[in-house]
Amino acid sequence: MKFNKIAPVLLVLSVFIFLKQASAQDGIDRKVDSVLSKMTLAEKVGQMNQYNGDWEATGPVTKAVGDKLAEIKQGKVGAVLNIMGSAHTKMFQDAAMQSRLKIPLLFGQDVIHGYRITFPIPLAEASSWNPDAIERAERIAATEASASGINWTFAPMVDIARDPRWGRVMEGAGEDPYLGSLIAAARVHGFQGRSLGSIDAVMACAKHFAAYGAAIGGRDYNSVDMSLHSLWEVYLPPFKAAAEAGAATFMNSFNDLNGTPATGNTYLQREVLKKIWNFKGFVVSDWGSIGEMIPHGYAKDNYQAAEIAVKAGNDMDMESHSYIENLEKLVNDGKVSISLIDESIRRILRKKFEMGLFDDPYRFINPAREKSLLNLPASQTEARSMAQKSIVLLKNSNQLLPLSKDLKTVAVIGPLAKAKKEQKGFWSLDIEPNEDITSVIEALKKTAPKTQFVFQKGCNIDDQSRAGFADAVEAAKTADVVVMAMGEAPDMTGEAKSKANIHLPGVQEDLIKAVIATGKPVVVLLMAGRPMIFNWTADNANAILYTWWLGSQGGNAIADVLYGAYNPSGKLPITFPRTEGQIPIYYNHLNTGRPAANDKDVFYKSAYIDLPNSPRFAFGYGLSYTTFDYIDNEPTASSARIKDNGSLQISFTLKNTGKYAGEETIQLYIRQMVSQPLRPVKELKDFKKVFLQPGESRKVTFTVSRDMLYFYNDSLQYVTQPGDFQVMIGSASDDIRLKRAFELSN
Ligand code: GLC
Repeated sequence: MKFNKIAPVLLVLSVFIFLKQASAQDGIDRKVDSVLSKMTLAEKVGQMNQYNGDWEATGPVTKAVGDKLAEIKQGKVGAVLNIMGSAHTKMFQDAAMQSRLKIPLLFGQDVIHGYRITFPIPLAEASSWNPDAIERAERIAATEASASGINWTFAPMVDIARDPRWGRVMEGAGEDPYLGSLIAAARVHGFQGRSLGSIDAVMACAKHFAAYGAAIGGRDYNSVDMSLHSLWEVYLPPFKAAAEAGAATFMNSFNDLNGTPATGNTYLQREVLKKIWNFKGFVVSDWGSIGEMIPHGYAKDNYQAAEIAVKAGNDMDMESHSYIENLEKLVNDGKVSISLIDESIRRILRKKFEMGLFDDPYRFINPAREKSLLNLPASQTEARSMAQKSIVLLKNSNQLLPLSKDLKTVAVIGPLAKAKKEQKGFWSLDIEPNEDITSVIEALKKTAPKTQFVFQKGCNIDDQSRAGFADAVEAAKTADVVVMAMGEAPDMTGEAKSKANIHLPGVQEDLIKAVIATGKPVVVLLMAGRPMIFNWTADNANAILYTWWLGSQGGNAIADVLYGAYNPSGKLPITFPRTEGQIPIYYNHLNTGRPAANDKDVFYKSAYIDLPNSPRFAFGYGLSYTTFDYIDNEPTASSARIKDNGSLQISFTLKNTGKYAGEETIQLYIRQMVSQPLRPVKELKDFKKVFLQPGESRKVTFTVSRDMLYFYNDSLQYVTQPGDFQVMIGSASDDIRLKRAFELSN
């Protein structure tokens, strides 16, 4: 059918869909108003109150645990958290159904990287540079959680982080706004499905709004001080992406931003989120953060804290009890307008209607579904695949890897060789039996049954004992190859886990030295939730795999990569510093007036006289068992200029020049050579993942368009500026293989 015939059909169809969605929304709004009209002020305040369950606290418990079920029956609670499983959620929903208006509860949970099956920690998943795979992982997490009574996850955490001392770096997608935005949207779509209200979907919650990852010194909960320009350029984009992806809720953050706590920050919550971004969901405080405006010194008591928070656009109070104890009085004292309360109620009730909870408060509470949908083999397979994609090959001298299954003896040494539960990392839920998790050494034995594996722990994760060194060295001497499983403890990253020293802990690097001194080939596996510092190991080990914390299937995925069943394809989503003294160090920095020409250029550069200027491993870095050539057979772009809404194409040939099939993540960076204000020396704007067989070549074409060139100017307008640009295409931010110049005209 010709386009001119199909166009009217498409037009009618799109108008019909729009009207259908609009009328559905009108229908919900009418229902919301109907419930609202029946509510007393006390019941309205109750909907703005979220309590923690009585089983586990994920924050400092602010009040003595009262009879929460009684308060729910009185209509004083709108949502709860940390209550999992059909039986527990039913108990609480039953209580809500005894309240006067029978408004159903929301059940929130930190389903950060999996529910029954634990997926790799989010920073590990980000190393896959595979938003589709990440979305599939969140789909499984949402399916399992929603089958267990949960309808709201406090995820995705989308905080940009440039400081690996910060423990919560493990929870996000690293340092880059573009990659972080793609992953934020993928996670929201994964959790919420393609539309809120389907039985296997949960509400997402973009957090922590905003700039929580920029805490000074990498110290959790610390102040954040930055220009609004940096806020908009670096820290807000993933939140904007989450809002545009339809995130049902946002969570604000513990930090103050330029002197105003995020929870009481009208600019963030009302101006940016609800006005500029037209966000229609609701904002929940972080745990106790309304009350924490008192120790911040921003409120003198909970009465004032509640007033500040509700006026600033915080709709629900998680566990500070400030709202439940003060909002009624604030309204009766004339301090807070009932219209503000009603606005929050509309936002909260709208989500409960969209989730179908008014139609059936028990729709997510179904023991049969819970039994049938958790821990499915296909889900474990997906978890293994996600874990494989999350592993980053940092070094592979003399192609030591992949290992041969014909090796006679392999020594497996290190405090994490037998790790099971540890592999789940922080923010994992303690549902899966530990025995279900395969350790590294168990996976190796399964993968290479003809090989004799000799285990020695060698040392502990974080003490000074060298008592195990001798046995470890002896084991190494008997082996053809040594695999060392080293790293942090899983609770060395996560909330309130910032570290000033991020070197490989304890005496682990001394153990690595002792084992390498035997002259045997050594593969080092590094497990952690953050970039660690391990310079001697990086210089001297034959091969290094950064495995992060890979979750339920971590051991199996590591074995798959070690033996080549999966050719590692991960790329670092965050810069690895040479030492803590370099922090903050990130790839998309400004050039300065005295840029370093190279690592040895100690004059005229913003660098150190006692350290090279470059990081240990750069953003976007990751090796493969094969090699890729970027053959620049069209040294000029399709056009040297972009004007109006035009674009240009850049093509080249990628060739697999090694002997293994493998996937390359080709990265495209842009630099604007002259601008006001300044632009970074490079910014990731696109990437393509290409899988090639050995010897195979493929033409790769990128399109560079004007929409890649927008940025916030000094007046925070989102603009482009005409001028000269450079495109850089490569295998890592510090491994550019080809460049093109072009001009943007008005
Ligand atoms: C915690 C975290 C937040 C989490 C919440 C509920 O303190 O900051 O990310 O979702 O409390 O557990």
